[in-house]
Amino acid sequence: MKAPLIRVTPPGPRAREIVEKDSKLLMQSFARWYPLVVKRGFNAVLEDVDGNLYIDFNSGIAVTNVGHSHPKVVEAIKAQAEKFLHYSLTDFYYELAVEAAEILTKISPVKEGKVFFTNSGTESNEAALKVARGYFKGTRPYVISFIGSFHGRTYGSMSLSASKPVHKRHFSPLVPGIIHVPFPYPYRCPFKASSPEECAEMALSFMEEWIFGRLVDPGEVSAVFFEPILGEGGYVVPPDNFLPGLERLAKKHGILLVADEVQTGFGRTGRWFACEHWGVSPDVVSLAKGISAGLPAGAIVGRGEVMSLPPGAHANTFGGNPVALAAFKASVEVLSEGYVERAARLGKEALSYLESRLSDVELVGDIRGKGFMIGVELVKSRRTKEPARKELEAVLMESFKRGVLPIGAGMSTVRIAPPLTIEEELLFTGLDIVSKVIREVGS
Ligand SMILES: Cc1ncc(COP(=O)(O)O)c(C=O)c1O
Repeated sequence: MKAPLIRVTPPGPRAREIVEKDSKLLMQSFARWYPLVVKRGFNAVLEDVDGNLYIDFNSGIAVTNVGHSHPKVVEAIKAQAEKFLHYSLTDFYYELAVEAAEILTKISPVKEGKVFFTNSGTESNEAALKVARGYFKGTRPYVISFIGSFHGRTYGSMSLSASKPVHKRHFSPLVPGIIHVPFPYPYRCPFKASSPEECAEMALSFMEEWIFGRLVDPGEVSAVFFEPILGEGGYVVPPDNFLPGLERLAKKHGILLVADEVQTGFGRTGRWFACEHWGVSPDVVSLAKGISAGLPAGAIVGRGEVMSLPPGAHANTFGGNPVALAAFKASVEVLSEGYVERAARLGKEALSYLESRLSDVELVGDIRGKGFMIGVELVKSRRTKEPARKELEAVLMESFKRGVLPIGAGMSTVRIAPPLTIEEELLFTGLDIVSKVIREVGS
């Protein structure tokens, strides 16, 4: 399959038919960017139901890190499906779960970790919230999280999130005890800072001085939840001094550091876990998305001492599904073939490529990222930095029509997150098309 190849201007007749049925049969609470109707995929190429071939620039929202239907993953899934499909891990035992936990604890930045398996990112964060509050036996009811962050859609993780008001509108009351603080967003620092590093310093001292000094005693805070790089909130990389500073602050007050690596984890940023870029060791890491190549699965890995909820306090029916764990093991094997390091190298080249192609385009406010987590923030003017929402929609729709599939993030950022296994030529063909589209929309 050689992409991009647009045979029928999308959405073609078959796609339109399915989209129409979808609108009648499914609750339309999603925010879809364009009407792509998938028929099948192989590595970084997707075919739609009208025979068009696309370059996958979002991996099903940062999930298919090893590409679509990698033969080794498919083989592992088939082999496990023939053995058994399910046997609830929270009531019984199987070896695959122990093997997967052993691998996860080895690759994760958590020291002497223990694992709890879940089915999704939001469920991982719910579990992490219970683990954190439960660890302190209710004596530390408060939790900190960041404005701009996204942690999921169920009540605990929705309450932790603060990336778009629509996620919460009409759903209150939310989970109490969650305090949101500013994230040091270098391009839009919420403080009057003269450099990104100063922005990070100011965000940290805001917590110390205003939150812990006036609002709550830090001895009543159980955890600080953070995304090492904001995902849904706009692919925002914090200044280098931020996460080490946050770790120091948390340690000083005995607060648990909970890294939500649902999107940044599993090789996406050019390291197995994004925290490694800054040498930070969280107490708990929450995972999902990329860990099982597209099968629904998640996990939290926490320090053994912290993962201390008593029997009966937390469980689920499907967590650690054997087929998903077989896919997980195969994915780790595939990524270990050098794809994580390759994402780091190619991600840097992709950033320089985008900079060289777009530095003179007024619509482009900021280009940033790590590995295959790349954001191009669009603004109406570089002077005002007003988010260019309509232009973002136009860029995504036009890229789709030309056979490339980036999506949006934050207010107006083009999110580029291809599979880590994408062929180099395909990556740069896709970048070429997207940068041409951005230039055209901006002119
Ligand atoms: C950082 C982060 N945490 C949590 C979630 C929620 O994951 P899920 O959609 O699997 O519940 C997401 C999803 O986009 C995410 O990006």
